[in-house]
Amino acid sequence: MIRLLLGALLWVCASISWAQVLDFSEAETRAILRHGPWPSPWSPDPTNRVSGNPAAIELGERLFFEPRLSPSGKVLCATCHAPFRGWQDGRARAFGLAETDRNTQSLFNVRNNRWFGWDGAGDSLWAQSVRPILEAREMGGSQAEAAALIRRDPELSCRFEKTFGAPPPADDEGVFAGIGKALAAFQETIVSGRTPFDDFRDALEKGDRQAAARYPLAAQRGLKLFVGRGNCSACHFGPAFTNGEFHDTGVPFFLKGGADPGRHGGLKKLQANAFNLLGAHNDDRSGSSAVKTRQVAIEHRNFGEFKVPSLRNVAQTAPYMHNGSLATLAEVVRHYSEINPDRLHAEGESLLKPLHLSAGEAADLVAFLESLSETSSALPPRLPSTACR
Ligand code: HEC
Ligand code: HEC
Repeated sequence: MIRLLLGALLWVCASISWAQVLDFSEAETRAILRHGPWPSPWSPDPTNRVSGNPAAIELGERLFFEPRLSPSGKVLCATCHAPFRGWQDGRARAFGLAETDRNTQSLFNVRNNRWFGWDGAGDSLWAQSVRPILEAREMGGSQAEAAALIRRDPELSCRFEKTFGAPPPADDEGVFAGIGKALAAFQETIVSGRTPFDDFRDALEKGDRQAAARYPLAAQRGLKLFVGRGNCSACHFGPAFTNGEFHDTGVPFFLKGGADPGRHGGLKKLQANAFNLLGAHNDDRSGSSAVKTRQVAIEHRNFGEFKVPSLRNVAQTAPYMHNGSLATLAEVVRHYSEINPDRLHAEGESLLKPLHLSAGEAADLVAFLESLSETSSALPPRLPSTACR
């Protein structure tokens, strides 16, 4: 009798845990598996000869926290990209020496990007990394002042030499490119950790339903919407939840006295930038890394397009969108639910239709987005810093 009861109890428990995995179709399962594995493989950046170099990482870390890169002495990279706030600032629009027009992007997994900035004005991590030093509203510096700092500070010039194998050169542009490459090497270490979603995805791949059942049902329902009716995966694609491209999602892009041209303006800036991959500072002599930059063409439809952000750790990086206009994930989901197709540009974003989600469905989608938060940090432990030489 007791054995019978125990057996029944076991059966009930087993069927409860079985019941906790939703029925995902084959197509849904394939779509879910494409969002992993995590962490995704990475190899050093061929356009940056010090990518992955420990001396460069250490110099880059110092420069990231160096207020003297701004002649004001008041603004450093970490002012806006605060490590404890998901490498951003929690503000709608970034504020350095003055308020800017855009939201600070998080730096999680920035090494995976193909284009940089909300508008893709950067084609390498190192070129993007020197941009804020020159911006009047961000750090308000110049190439000459940044290069002079490296040459005059014994610690920085020693680390520069250790990194590049030669002391800082006489030309300011050469030193400035080196600053960008060291900053890039440091930022390549900013990788986000494993999430509840990743555990679910891997369990699904292995067919381990018991492990899969640990993933909350609300998140599973939200995931079903994400890869299914919501069509979110079309743009928030792959392990980092971005296709790396630019789209118009109907977020208003008007500014005081004008409009943010988005990708349209970004391409113009990219072509005019001496640090783009077609320029002299690209370390990839094969020329293959510059192909994407040579091939871009500015089209009218690029007006109002912004980069598809990664959604890893997205719950840590409110507020949202290129102008920080949406305060919470619930507001973002409402935006997609009620999207007005007339607001999308003429070519039309056939990928986006108003979803008219119920309150429960909207909450499920938020629960899914929250499950993309790391459960432990993947940042390498920082070694105690010793003086150079
Ligand atoms: C005043 C605030 C501010 C400061 C200071 C700042 N940033 Fe940023 N950062 C931003 C904003 C805003 C963006 C988005 C820029 C755009 O779309 O044009 C951004 C974007 C980036 C990106 C692109 C991320 C991506 O996913 O494409 C990188 C890389 C970056 N910053 C690195 C740095 C480094 C390195 C420094 C220090 C040298 C720095 N930032 C200083 C506000 C700041
Ligand atoms: C047509 C491509 C496309 C589709 C489909 C799409 N997104 Fe986006 N998503 C974007 C772009 C582009 C942005 C940035 C827009 C901006 O800043 O103006 C964005 C921004 C976001 C953000 C804000 C992230 C941040 O860091 O600011 C979230 C969250 C998000 N999308 C979730 C979703 C969800 C959920 C769906 C499905 C209901 C979805 N997206 C469908 C392209 C898309």
